[in-house]
Amino acid sequence: MKILVIGSGGREHAIVRRLSRDSIPHELHAAPGNPGIGQLATLHPVPVGDLDALVALSRQLRPDLVVVGPEAPLVAGLADRLRSQGITVFGPGAEAARLEGSKSWAKEIMAAAGVPTAASVTVHDTSALEAGLDQVNPDGAVPYVVKADGLAAGKGVVVTDDRLEALAHGRAVLDAGGSLVLEEYLDGPEVSLFCLCDGQRAVPLQPAQDFKRAMEGDEGPNTGGMGAYSPLPWAPEGLVDEVVRTVAQPTLTELARRGTPFVGTLFCGLALTARGVRVVEFNVRFGDPETQVVLERLASDLAPLLLAAAQGDLSAVPAPVWSEDAAATVVIASEGYPASSRTGDEIGGIEAAEAGEATHVIHAGTAQDAQGRLVSAGGRVLCVVATGADLATARQRALDGVDAVQLEGSHHRRDIARAAAEGTVGA
Ligand code: AMP
Ligand code: GLY
Repeated sequence: MKILVIGSGGREHAIVRRLSRDSIPHELHAAPGNPGIGQLATLHPVPVGDLDALVALSRQLRPDLVVVGPEAPLVAGLADRLRSQGITVFGPGAEAARLEGSKSWAKEIMAAAGVPTAASVTVHDTSALEAGLDQVNPDGAVPYVVKADGLAAGKGVVVTDDRLEALAHGRAVLDAGGSLVLEEYLDGPEVSLFCLCDGQRAVPLQPAQDFKRAMEGDEGPNTGGMGAYSPLPWAPEGLVDEVVRTVAQPTLTELARRGTPFVGTLFCGLALTARGVRVVEFNVRFGDPETQVVLERLASDLAPLLLAAAQGDLSAVPAPVWSEDAAATVVIASEGYPASSRTGDEIGGIEAAEAGEATHVIHAGTAQDAQGRLVSAGGRVLCVVATGADLATARQRALDGVDAVQLEGSHHRRDIARAAAEGTVGA
């Protein structure tokens, strides 16, 4: 199969890597890709923001399947444009992608579909901000959860006990012309579950847990994700079936009823609260870095699943088969991330990291400089992924890999999967 993957991050490297390991060889292309992806696929230097050029590239390559990695081109309508050219695409059209592109719209869909989520209020101007906070956080309850309504690359959400900070974030978003969603705080461990969707049906992958905060102990600001692991030994029996039944399927049914069927990955971001499973957010694409661990555990082929979803009939393919192994990934971030990110620093030690047992390195924000050296080019630079018979082994291997990498000023979390390996999640 000829497959074009759109994107340049760790998620796309993980997708391309997994496609390259299918039992049948594929002709793999990526736009724009990164130096890691370039070892497995032909790269085309088209940025993800240039929809015209991506459509032109797809028309020229005529791939059997286009897989769109990031949310921004999906929300901007890339999948619609490709479909209108007769190209088979894994990824939702702009209307269905609003599940991620507008948090208030996602709330509306969840309400219509009866999907359990945090109580919320949408606020459009500052005069309604204080009253909105009082409604969602009655009697001085904390923390406050204040979210920019639109896409914000993981930086639009503030969770804080400090009312002044909540107000300041709210005002900043409103002053910039955006809307806000104020939410009830959901207390409990978070789970990421990706469902492959063909417009009607949802095929769940294995659940993973992401570490959103920049620093160990879940301190510091929210990031795109600093590490992940799968499986979740602490998750309740039947969790995946429950989420498909109460979250993914009703959402798909509601979107299909509205005439905007969802094709692609429905990423259910969940909190397991004392009152049950609640949706924290929906995303309309694979998660990063969760994909690095979930796809590493996929023991059957990936391309037939993505193609069947894109063609609208997941019932035509066998269910995915999973490895019993555990997988963990630790993100190496550049100095200053997430507030800023220092770039252009030389990266060393990847080969040494990959010499470790069952360990490999995913490129997330890397580039080749004029001298051909591999340098940092983003906030999240590399992900070291490792597998093992249990989580303790997988996470130790990933950390050993991180220790072999040299990147000046970089930081990472050493507590990825630690609580799960020690049996103390939610304790
Ligand atoms: P979102 O962009 O909506 O996923 O929010 C980013 C992160 O903020 C989530 O992964 C959670 O860690 C946290 N968060 C968002 N909404 C809530 C909520 N209602 N209660 C608690 N934490 C939340
Ligand atoms: N790691 C969470 C996300 O991809 O949004």
